[in-house]
Amino acid sequence: MSDIATLEVNGQKYDFPLIKGTENEVAIDIKTLRGATEGIVTIDPGYKNTGSCESGITFLDGEKGILRYRGYSIEDLAEKADFLEVAYALIFGDLPNKEQLDKFHTDIKANSIVDDDVKKIVDAFPKAAHPMGVLSSLTSALTAFNPSSVDVSSEEEMYNSVVKILGKFPVLVAWAMRKKQGLPLDYGDSSLGYVENILKMMFKQPNEEYVQNEILVDALDKLLILHADHEQNCSTSTVRIVGSSHAGLFASLSAGISALWGPLHGGANQAVLEMLEAIKEDGGDTKKYMAKAKDKNDPFRLMGFGHRVYKNFDPRARIIKTAADEVLADLGIEDPILDIAKGLEQEALNDEYFVKRKLYPNVDFYSGIIYRAMGIPVEMFTAMFALGRLPGWIAQWREMRLRKEPIGRPRQIYIGKNLREFTGINER
Ligand code: CMC
Repeated sequence: MSDIATLEVNGQKYDFPLIKGTENEVAIDIKTLRGATEGIVTIDPGYKNTGSCESGITFLDGEKGILRYRGYSIEDLAEKADFLEVAYALIFGDLPNKEQLDKFHTDIKANSIVDDDVKKIVDAFPKAAHPMGVLSSLTSALTAFNPSSVDVSSEEEMYNSVVKILGKFPVLVAWAMRKKQGLPLDYGDSSLGYVENILKMMFKQPNEEYVQNEILVDALDKLLILHADHEQNCSTSTVRIVGSSHAGLFASLSAGISALWGPLHGGANQAVLEMLEAIKEDGGDTKKYMAKAKDKNDPFRLMGFGHRVYKNFDPRARIIKTAADEVLADLGIEDPILDIAKGLEQEALNDEYFVKRKLYPNVDFYSGIIYRAMGIPVEMFTAMFALGRLPGWIAQWREMRLRKEPIGRPRQIYIGKNLREFTGINER
């Protein structure tokens, strides 16, 4: 294979180098295109064909259903690692040894107190506020309470910001949930593991001792690992592009949380459960909803189905489907919604519309069923996704800063009016 791509415009030829990744993915490097052609740019709405960066964090092959963080397979990580080890690997490049992991956890715990004044902000939100809006605001507000985390450039300053947000973000997630439930806001217990502490902060009742349930700890650990990174998706690209203006880590993450909220992205996990509930309420008629999803005049989509990159299967969905069976069995829960979900999947896998468009269940299709079995309210599902995605966002932001990437600033093709005469207000 040649390492040059040639573009011909109006009879003039331009050569561009091909660049190859470590897994042999190929890209045409068009950095010089606009200069060489005196103004021609590319256009690619939704960036379906555009690589925004070179990255050493996550590899995925959508045709083969492969997902790896830092070279480790998602199957191995979900089975053998815990969330904090995965977070460390994503951010710093390799799985930690015992000493590195202990130090990382100690530093996170030392930074897990949120200024008590933040509670006043939490109190100012109405109870009906969606937790994602609350979380995005609170994450941004943290910049005001931690000014030293705003302008960071050295690796040491970055590390301090990283452990701060890893310590404080779970507190904010727990507070967003407890506020809705009218429960007192709590700080958890620093003697616990990272995930155990999250569960305690979320579920501890003020008048009862909190008893850890190992099934829940394992289930949450796995879910967080499966959500921890997914290369240049919508929210991650948002974090990188906001960070590229040298906005601080917390401000960049706040923007990422907003991007994740949308139902085409992380918000799909809430939308899936609401859809499955609606199907159940409607008598379990999955065929009716399949027909709606295929009807081009109906805006309804089968939530939790389809993926921009996976065109064969989503490896995370496979792991989560098995986990859903196990967790529900372990907890002794029979949820009719799980049967509806499995029925819908079977129908879609045998339906020409879905097969032709390569639409398979994605990570969000079964995750909500596990969250619900764990006692997490539906409106909190996307916040749980954010909790899992946090290390991925951090790793991508840090990589972007360390690689000294330029500010993100796409071009456009203007299709508006040409120059026209200004008319005074009385002549319009
Ligand atoms: N139900 C019915 N039809 C669908 C669906 C669906 N869920 N997803 C895609 N299609 C159809 C779409 O109408 C289009 O048909 P046609 O070619 O006839 O116009 C074709 O499949 C290709 O769809 P697309 O919208 O061009 O594909 P995309 O890569 O732009 O969108 C997606 C990917 C994930 C946004 C989309 O599949 C979708 O909206 N899925 C439902 C929402 C969802 O589950 N999102 C979670 C994604 S995974 C986790 C995450 O990213 O956070």
